[in-house]
Amino acid sequence: MKNILVIGATSAIATACVRLWANKGVAFFLSGRNSEKLNAIADDCRVRGAEVNTFNVDLADISQHNAMFAEIANKFNDIDVVLIAHGTLPEQSKCEKDVDLTLQELNTNAVATIAMLTRLANIMEEQGKGSIAVITSVAGDRGRPSNYVYGSAKAAVSTFCEGLRARLFKSGVSLTDIRPGFVDTPMTQGLPLPQKLVASPETVAKRIVKGVERRISVLYVPLFWAGIMFIIRSIPNFIFKRLKL
Ligand SMILES: NC(=O)c1ccc[n+]([C@@H]2O[C@H](COP(=O)([O-])OP(=O)(O)OC[C@H]3O[C@@H](n4cnc5c(N)ncnc54)[C@H](OP(=O)(O)O)[C@@H]3O)[C@@H](O)[C@H]2O)c1
Repeated sequence: MKNILVIGATSAIATACVRLWANKGVAFFLSGRNSEKLNAIADDCRVRGAEVNTFNVDLADISQHNAMFAEIANKFNDIDVVLIAHGTLPEQSKCEKDVDLTLQELNTNAVATIAMLTRLANIMEEQGKGSIAVITSVAGDRGRPSNYVYGSAKAAVSTFCEGLRARLFKSGVSLTDIRPGFVDTPMTQGLPLPQKLVASPETVAKRIVKGVERRISVLYVPLFWAGIMFIIRSIPNFIFKRLKL
């Protein structure tokens, strides 16, 4: 039996991954804050033959992580795959005027994720196998004026992952930093995005599932974002600060 832990399982991208993973040989531990959505995903997995446990948690409240990890240990002897997928996309202009909102967004998107990675690293290192995957974003590759609060939270996780990946490599555990571009999910609903660059959660999920299996370190999804971000990272600061991005 393959044990798969999905944190933030109600995310559209995570749900699409779960659908690809779900079959008779899989046991899921799905956590999220919306029990109705969580139960619907769990039912769908059971129809596909998987075993499923669900856990209700507000991931931004780090004091709730203890109970979640206790339950994970209760259900799984070891963990084969972890996907951390929760996240929030704040309005940058609101963050600029509201310190509390900025800190709340950094907490949800960076601190809570890093707290869980710290625990997972120790669990996975001790078991000496497994794959960790975290959804960050291309937004973390460069601080843009239109979304640097969200981008800096994702960058913090990516940098944390870079160091952690090197630590875990020695114990046979892989860490995949998943960096999606624009994906058509509730998070991006109503945003004026260039439609040609927007991918479906299903397209993104196929690349994620394959990439995690192949133990890829940094996975741009879809692949063309690797090229776009290479160009964006190459723009010198004296030009970058003049651009409207
Ligand atoms: N969509 C994009 O264009 C895009 C691009 C780059 C990166 N990403 C990243 O991809 C990941 C998945 O997002 P998505 O696109 O699939 O959007 P989504 O469907 O809106 O998923 C976001 C998920 O995060 C959950 N969440 C937020 N705060 C939480 C909390 N405090 N406790 C528990 N769950 C919480 C939400 O739960 P509820 O269902 O309860 O709201 C939701 O399931 C995120 O990390 C996001 O930053 C998305």
